Amino acid sequence: MLTSIWPPINLENSGRDMKIGIAGVGTVGIGVIKILQQHTQLLNQRAGTNFEITAVSGRDRSKNRPVSLDGMTWYDNAVDLASDDNVEMVLELIGGSDGVAKELCEAALKAEKPVVTANKALLAVHGTELARLAEEKNVPLAYEAAVAGGIPIVKAMREGLSGNAISRVYGILNGTCNYILTEMEETGGDFGDILDEAQHLGYAEADPSFDIDGVDAAHKLSILTSLAFGTPVDFESVYIEGIRAVSAEDIAFAKEFGYRIRLLGVARKTEKGIEQRVHPCMVRKETAIANVSGVFNAVVAEGDFVDSTVYEGRGAGEGPTASAVVADIIDIAAGRVSPTFGIPVDKMVDIPKVPVEEHIGRYYVRLTVYDRPGVIADVSAVFRDEEVSIESLLQRGRGPEEAVSVVLTTHEVQEAALVRALAKIREFDHSVDDPRMIRIAKL
Ligand SMILES: NC(=O)c1ccc[n+]([C@@H]2O[C@H](COP(=O)([O-])OP(=O)(O)OC[C@H]3O[C@@H](n4cnc5c(N)ncnc54)[C@H](OP(=O)(O)O)[C@@H]3O)[C@@H](O)[C@H]2O)c1
Repeated sequence: MLTSIWPPINLENSGRDMKIGIAGVGTVGIGVIKILQQHTQLLNQRAGTNFEITAVSGRDRSKNRPVSLDGMTWYDNAVDLASDDNVEMVLELIGGSDGVAKELCEAALKAEKPVVTANKALLAVHGTELARLAEEKNVPLAYEAAVAGGIPIVKAMREGLSGNAISRVYGILNGTCNYILTEMEETGGDFGDILDEAQHLGYAEADPSFDIDGVDAAHKLSILTSLAFGTPVDFESVYIEGIRAVSAEDIAFAKEFGYRIRLLGVARKTEKGIEQRVHPCMVRKETAIANVSGVFNAVVAEGDFVDSTVYEGRGAGEGPTASAVVADIIDIAAGRVSPTFGIPVDKMVDIPKVPVEEHIGRYYVRLTVYDRPGVIADVSAVFRDEEVSIESLLQRGRGPEEAVSVVLTTHEVQEAALVRALAKIREFDHSVDDPRMIRIAKL
């Protein structure tokens, strides 16, 4: 007989109420309440269950919220939701890798209550141990909203592509960065100005560092890596470089070479192990990923039988993120449950991670040097010595003793060799500034 790992409520129980406790009534929590209130009948048809929000928790009870919380028990301490007999499923929509979010998830799983979370930071840092706890307690831990918001990429990776060996998964995993990069390209503006504008429009947080320094994308990438390759979540080994150093000049040169710049998260299986990296990339302008603009996210997953599959949509915001949370709630209520990362924790294999220095690829390099005779010859000599082969070179001269940009692209080379070459070039008398290097994606 087929059994699901957590089916106490199934379609035979149609019409029965499922009591939900929501921790966090901010952007995502409010969105979830709106869907549950507006789509009551639709959700009942799909889940076979009536959802009832019986309890909520937030920091400030007196805050004005755009939905009514009447009839719901309020908890100042979110962890109390786990022990409320009137709560059968817990939604953790607070955020943060530790603290109350983690305590609540652990308490709810220990109390054998299913948990749905949108919290990528929590899963990136503690995903494997939480998955183990969920398995021990035989309850689901679901997190569709944690990666790429409204795009159902977790389900696609875990179930839709489960017949494939995945070779690579990559994508635009942070809408704030994508908005900034596409605006810089369209307006020719500088990073700082466009960031200010993004903050003004609500696309970037007051403290935008998690987004623009690549940490948020790295959280999501570490989850995708685990889903793709059946490894424990290993956020610590993700190489992370954000977009602060991307200049208007780099974007203009990229355009000239037929590229756009995107912040990509890439997880790839090679003979040496798994590469996990988040950094700005030059992507050819005709690729699907180069044409993802503004706050949108996109993920490309490559499987041996399916080939390349592309998923695009809104990666954040009230509606899209709540849509993913509610999809998890319905799956759980309907008894459709898989191991957290696609395979049981005991079956995960810890494949070695390949350091970024061993990455082999093509590169864009921009040098800022004084326009003097012999500069190009000196640069060429360093590249020759480090066996870095130049594909094309462009100099924008202004006149003797003025700082000029020398821009070049390389053939495939190991990153460590290029880094050595750039360190030598930085020591030249004619160098004005640190050399700038951007990886060219092979898509
Ligand atoms: N926003 C998005 O587009 C998006 C997209 C994908 C994933 N996520 C994830 O979804 C989660 C929630 O994000 P959000 O944007 O909805 O955040 P938010 O708008 O800042 O809301 C956070 C909520 O958590 C409550 N809270 C904070 N600390 C608490 C505590 N110690 N105890 C109880 N409640 C507490 C806040 O209470 P008060 O309202 O009383 O201050 C607020 O209601 C995060 O993990 C985030 O990464 C968000």
